Amino acid sequence: MKVLIKTEIPGPNSKEMNQKRIKSVADGHGSVCGVYIKKADGSNLIDVDENVFIDYAGGIGTMNIGHSHPRIISAIKTQLEKFIHPCFTVAPYESYITLARKLSDLVPISNNCKAAFFNSGAEAVENAVKISKSYTGRSGILVFSHAFHGRTQMTMSMTYKEDPYKKGFGPFLPNIHRLEFPSEDKILNLISSDFDPKTIACAVIEPVAGEGGFIPVSINAMKNLREFCSKHDIVMVVDEIQTGFGRTGTLFAIEQFDVEPDLITLAKSIAGGLPLSGVVGKLEIMDASHVGGIGGTFGGNPVACAAALAVLDIIEDEQLSTRAIEIGKKVRYKIKSIRNYCPWIGGIRGLGAMQGIIIINPETGEADKSRTSRIHQYALEHGLIMINAGTYGNVIRTLMPLTIGNDDLDQSLEILSAAITNA
Ligand SMILES: Cc1ncc(COP(=O)(O)O)c(C=O)c1O
Repeated sequence: MKVLIKTEIPGPNSKEMNQKRIKSVADGHGSVCGVYIKKADGSNLIDVDENVFIDYAGGIGTMNIGHSHPRIISAIKTQLEKFIHPCFTVAPYESYITLARKLSDLVPISNNCKAAFFNSGAEAVENAVKISKSYTGRSGILVFSHAFHGRTQMTMSMTYKEDPYKKGFGPFLPNIHRLEFPSEDKILNLISSDFDPKTIACAVIEPVAGEGGFIPVSINAMKNLREFCSKHDIVMVVDEIQTGFGRTGTLFAIEQFDVEPDLITLAKSIAGGLPLSGVVGKLEIMDASHVGGIGGTFGGNPVACAAALAVLDIIEDEQLSTRAIEIGKKVRYKIKSIRNYCPWIGGIRGLGAMQGIIIINPETGEADKSRTSRIHQYALEHGLIMINAGTYGNVIRTLMPLTIGNDDLDQSLEILSAAITNA
């Protein structure tokens, strides 16, 4: 759909809605853009003032299959007409089992696998940690700088960035040990660590740090981490909440690292926008927790499971992992073409369609958060909704639906490059 900006941004109807919001919604729950949405279709968002945007945020990476995909809507409707929520903990149903089987067969782990479902990404990470603690009888958790694992007490403690995620919310959980994130230019430094590996239940790593700034882990470091975990009987958990479901060019990013993890956490694009998350991994680890130790009222809700089954079919039928690679190439090509006259582009990094454009001060080489915010604002005013990332707030990230057509992609890249050039 062609981008159409009819009003100032935000428009009058959005502004009016924002006034209502201020009176009723807790301030702590922020929104990146001041435009309020009334319709979404494919890679477009249409706001309450009839402005048409292209969506590079994709519900923070939940919309890999695009907004309002007809097959998702049909799967949801079919399920709604049967039943909405008998609760798997009480009266179970088949779609949960089918999804658990499918994901267990799809994850790149050669052992027999099992799965369990929850609601949010944070819950999936919490449960992966709980399962690892049950399996190992240990309590330590190994995490990395730039990590983001969620906003609950445990996952916030595992998360790196102080402001806004941890500010004022301490004390944090003990026994969490942090290593430097092993990106391409860093080795996995386990030598200077201050913990006894025999106390560590699990190591949790994002194959590409998401909120931390779209930083891929180096392949060697991932292999070293695998060796370290195997040597010390530590459960290796790969957090694929943002990288999963085709985003990086393979169904799961870890497929590109020649490494088999023990557990994988999933959420975001798993169910085409419905709240669902999961832990999938080696059967003997997944079975370690006692009955009733994991679960929850809404975990694996049947409507979300029906949507998730449709998501897997759509990704395969529409070859969205391959499309992610094409999208990533186009983004990189465009950014490289403007780099010569935009010395504030510090680089572009990522895997597949998960690309992060780094904005720096060309004189000092330091992160330039305020220029990044100006780029974001310019793009928004010209019809492109984006979100930033990075520990220093200076990375523009691409999380557009992988179903985006070439016309929308070309249009959006023109807006993005104009925003980077002019802001
Ligand atoms: C890698 C990663 N883990 C965990 C989470 C937390 O997911 P949720 O916000 O659904 O709790 C996120 C969310 O951005 C994430 O990117």
